[in-house]
Amino acid sequence: MSCMKISFLVLLISLSLGYFYGDKIHSIVPRHVLKEIESFVPSEVMAWWHGHQAKPATPEKITEKVDQAKKSEPHLFTKEELWKYYRGDKGSKGLYLAFMGKVYDVSAGKTSYQPGGGYDFFAGRDGTKGFVTGDFSDEGLTDVLDGLDENMFGGFKEWQTFYATTYKFIGFLIGNFYDKNGQPTAALKNAESKIKSAMDVEKKRKEESKKYPMCNSESSAAKGSRVWCSNRSGGVERDWVGVPRLYHAPGATHARCACVRNTGPPTEGKDMGKNTGDLNSPYMKEYKNCKPDSPSCVTVPPRS
Ligand code: HEM
Ligand SMILES: *[C@@H]1O[C@H](CO)[C@@H](O)[C@H](O)[C@H]1NC(C)=O
Repeated sequence: MSCMKISFLVLLISLSLGYFYGDKIHSIVPRHVLKEIESFVPSEVMAWWHGHQAKPATPEKITEKVDQAKKSEPHLFTKEELWKYYRGDKGSKGLYLAFMGKVYDVSAGKTSYQPGGGYDFFAGRDGTKGFVTGDFSDEGLTDVLDGLDENMFGGFKEWQTFYATTYKFIGFLIGNFYDKNGQPTAALKNAESKIKSAMDVEKKRKEESKKYPMCNSESSAAKGSRVWCSNRSGGVERDWVGVPRLYHAPGATHARCACVRNTGPPTEGKDMGKNTGDLNSPYMKEYKNCKPDSPSCVTVPPRS
């Protein structure tokens, strides 16, 4: 617990330092500490943070990139070539990295990627897997995406977009994602389809949390436990309040409290036109000893 608190303090400090000293954060915060932070910072926060960091490409830059692509055939790199000549050290030909088999010129971000930079380990190779695992060891920085949870693939999407819109596309890396003729491999198609499924799942999850927002809750030894709904419970601002129900979603391991709309037509289903809201969903259970239309339910009575 106290470890958690300290880590959180470190997170707050490093986030604010990061805000002011952007590219110096990794010399201030040791990497093992960063790693610790990464293990519990939700991906939304990470996405927000990196969105905050990313500089939007100017229109001129976009045309430049397109023209460049038209001018010359994309180059095909071998892993040896990328590693030997494109890590940005003395005498190298440039500063490149590959993400999902596509090679980008990242010299515009050299403070991060050049030797000694906070992310120098991404240079000269395809370390796609490390972008979602946070494992920046040589074994972790690989283009083979095995052993990953299906739901982690969503994390690749942001980085894919980030590199495509921030840096110049140079060519393809012969490896797990492109074959020696520069053609996409089955592994790439597989990864792309997993990314798409993960995004679909994420989208469903977001829609669901809007349909069935979380309840507010409080509990103490003296007062017992209580769940209740308000027009912004679960962080979902809405024009209805709803009533608390125990919601066991299909496939979910736990039931949770959901605020369910109790007036108006159902969101979906054949009952259209009825004034039941979503109360007829088969996954909802009423709380014991609580009026079905009460916006607040006691789940554990106070000790008397
Ligand atoms: C899985 C975890 C992480 C990955 C894969 C990751 C990856 C990256 C990459 C590739 C860049 C360079 C982006 C560019 O081209 O401009 C970057 C920049 C940055 N990241 Fe992260 N990051 C991670 C976690 C974190 C965390 C937890 C923090 C903050 C506490 C952080 C703070 C920064 C900062 C301040 C920069 C900009 C300056 C710099 O390059 O050092 N990152 N990150
Ligand atoms: C939410 O409730 C508050 C008072 O409880 C009210 O002032 C506000 O207008 C409501 N918002 C919406 C969107 O209905």
